[in-house]
Amino acid sequence: MNALAATNRNFRLASRLLGLDSKLEKSLLIPFREIKVECTIPKDDGTLATYVGFRIQHDNARGPMKGGIRYHPEVEPDEVNALAQLMTWKTAVAAIPYGGAKGGIGCNPRDLSKSELERLTRVFTQKIHDLIGIHTDVPAPDMGTNAQTMAWILDEYSKFHGHSPAVVTGKPIDLGGSLGREAATGRGVVYATEALLAEYEKSIKGMTFVIQGFGNVGSWASRLIHEKGGKVIAVSDITGALKNPNGIDIPELLKHKEATGSLKSFNGGDSMDPNELLVHECDVLIPCALGGVLNRENAADVKAKFIIEAANHPTDPEADEILSKKGVIILPDIYANAGGVTVSYFEWVQNIQGFMWDEEKVNQELKKYMTKAFHNIKNMCQSHDCNLRMGAFTLGVNRVARATILRGWEA
Ligand SMILES: NC(=O)c1ccc[n+]([C@@H]2O[C@H](COP(=O)([O-])OP(=O)(O)OC[C@H]3O[C@@H](n4cnc5c(N)ncnc54)[C@H](O)[C@@H]3O)[C@@H](O)[C@H]2O)c1
Repeated sequence: MNALAATNRNFRLASRLLGLDSKLEKSLLIPFREIKVECTIPKDDGTLATYVGFRIQHDNARGPMKGGIRYHPEVEPDEVNALAQLMTWKTAVAAIPYGGAKGGIGCNPRDLSKSELERLTRVFTQKIHDLIGIHTDVPAPDMGTNAQTMAWILDEYSKFHGHSPAVVTGKPIDLGGSLGREAATGRGVVYATEALLAEYEKSIKGMTFVIQGFGNVGSWASRLIHEKGGKVIAVSDITGALKNPNGIDIPELLKHKEATGSLKSFNGGDSMDPNELLVHECDVLIPCALGGVLNRENAADVKAKFIIEAANHPTDPEADEILSKKGVIILPDIYANAGGVTVSYFEWVQNIQGFMWDEEKVNQELKKYMTKAFHNIKNMCQSHDCNLRMGAFTLGVNRVARATILRGWEA
């Protein structure tokens, strides 16, 4: 099942639990607007190259649309549509006043020079500048884009609309980015894990963790779990996997990765088969890399008691069913990885206020939002007798449905 089908299925199940009218359901599902633009740039050698850029703006009932811009050769419209829709429910679950969007350009950023990437980003911004905006649609980095990409969008957009730092988030700090943004998704994952474990009268200290992916999210989650006394007993990335039953020394592993660019040849653990990592004995499994990694091939062999979905869509629906039957507790992606968009919201608030928060305030507010969202999800689980994924979906969909009904349809 692809990402769009899985998202639509979860939406429909939530809609049924909430008893939504089928006409309202249709109105919530269809994107508000789909934008597709031609972006032609001169390459460094003087030849022309044309790329297709797009933005799917899914819903704006609760506020400006919010979501990443990715540069990837296989930008797949169905997947982007699903991700735009997921942003709508995610921002609603986190109770931040945004809707959802997603976009990108079909290109391989590794094949483009820095100046070609800058030209491409500026042309794309020129084509969509009147359809995005501080109170309309606020892009952020995603796969293949970064703070520099956001700086170029901010600069190009500001040529048309005046200095507008709040038009994008995930900016460099020097241009109005927020302290704490880089760590926010991993930190949010850890706050979400703490809220879940507290329900079972457990805490991170002394529990064993397996983490797939050691990039932005995985490395921050590992570092914070280690700081809180959790034992990270196995980690992996694209270069390999390693384990240590006594707990990996994460600060040392971070230094090793910084120095060598790889997890290989780290002497504080033994290398292991990356496929074995997901079914390794542990208390908590945190996938922080790719979608679909838990599927019908491996779900029955998973030994973790808790799964925290830091990546988007790590569990396919078949695995979801198998794991639920086994009694594994899954904290769903639309909540577990919402820390990044929550701190993006703080960045936007700071830009609008023209006032910069210190990092402590950012982290404190993030903890408040993540903890509150968890309790809101639990309440939905109780009201609708459902698991955490449906608790999160019913919470998000219900908030968007209520806002839509309150706004009405009168022309
Ligand atoms: N960064 C954010 O703010 C954010 C927010 C929400 C969701 N997410 C999701 O979290 C996930 C990770 O994002 P990120 O920003 O950390 O990306 P990243 O590119 O920084 O890191 C990805 C990591 O996954 C590893 N990886 C890739 N293929 C792998 C494989 N086959 N086996 C094991 N590891 C593999 C990479 O080596 C890298 O360590 C993605 O699913 C992303 O959509 C990220």
